[in-house]
Amino acid sequence: MVNPFKDPVFVTRPLLPPMHSVHKRLQQIWESKWLTNIGAQHQELEEQLGKYLQARHLALFNNGTLALLIGLKALGLTGEAITTPFTFPATVQALDWAWLRPVFCDIDPDTLNIDVQKIEGLITTETTAILGVHVFGSPCPAETIDALAAAYGLKVIYDGAHAFQSRYQGRPISAFGDMTMFSFHATKLFNTVEGGALVVKDGSLLPTINMLKNFGIAGSEEVVLSGINAKMNEVQAGIGLEVLKMVAGEREKRKEIKKTYIKNLAAVPGIRFINDDISDENSFQYLVIAIDQELFGWSRDAVHEELKNYNVFTRKYFYPLCSNFPWYRSLPSTAPELLPVANQLAEQVLSLPFYGGLGVAGAQTICEILRRLCRTTIGSNIL
Ligand SMILES: Cc1ncc(COP(=O)(O)O)c(C=O)c1O
Repeated sequence: MVNPFKDPVFVTRPLLPPMHSVHKRLQQIWESKWLTNIGAQHQELEEQLGKYLQARHLALFNNGTLALLIGLKALGLTGEAITTPFTFPATVQALDWAWLRPVFCDIDPDTLNIDVQKIEGLITTETTAILGVHVFGSPCPAETIDALAAAYGLKVIYDGAHAFQSRYQGRPISAFGDMTMFSFHATKLFNTVEGGALVVKDGSLLPTINMLKNFGIAGSEEVVLSGINAKMNEVQAGIGLEVLKMVAGEREKRKEIKKTYIKNLAAVPGIRFINDDISDENSFQYLVIAIDQELFGWSRDAVHEELKNYNVFTRKYFYPLCSNFPWYRSLPSTAPELLPVANQLAEQVLSLPFYGGLGVAGAQTICEILRRLCRTTIGSNIL
């Protein structure tokens, strides 16, 4: 029997800069008496992130969801957007709030990203965009999507909430598509408590985007667009500047933890890693496995419950599937028989604890629990 962890172990823990560095930032903000509305911290973070992500046209937001919504608005999209059901609710809720109808496309069983082979068959005269998600930081096959979009005159938007520093074919992930959203929520490797960014290919869209996030205000006596309040404030930006200093070190720790998981679980029957990349092209955002009940002996749900007895709290990420949300029931593309891969994998995926503070030893213990679980049910001799 493996001893349970003394303290609860969660899927992630936020990267927290030293208190004294946050205090220094707060002092600067207090002295400036400028708490929000694109102050010095905001400007500094925007500039630093642009360099960090190799993104020429970047705008900060108070969260990733509003960044995505404003991106959709700025592109002036109408009608239908083809997207994936295997994502966080925010992706499709942004479509709803932009008055775009989602058309759900099944997913690739290996990467869990939108299945590019199935996109073309869903294009209608109403389609104006493809909204892909780089799920768990794995890049969508962007060149195929871009070519398809060009052939049909569609816009391409990526939800890159998990893809901070992901690279594809040697290029930064935001180099693909018309725009890419990033989330800086506390659960993300780089966080600003809450926050997000939009990187756009066409820099001429930036003034509109920046106006939309500030109520559509164009000047002191001029409001020209129906905008919203989606500005990142100075405290968020100041904390983000300190967190950014810690990202490289955290990525190194996560890389070692990911190697440990892979080394200890790769041979366990019924466990499959979703994204086993340990190269620097990876975002090291989540550590996700798919559990095949027949081979492993336990269902994903049973493992999720059993791990709680060891003080380990995993997440069924993503579950439930967005296409099964009640308000989409009448949409023809939500029929489960049209989305067999997504419906099957939503029952199998499990996000395991993955953050630097877990340490290699913590990961080893979780692997040991999983290996023993497998052995107890199917009598394998892997230990
Ligand atoms: C895939 C995906 N899209 C969008 C979001 C929403 O981002 P935010 O929480 O910054 O609004 C998340 C948040 O976790 C996410 O995982």
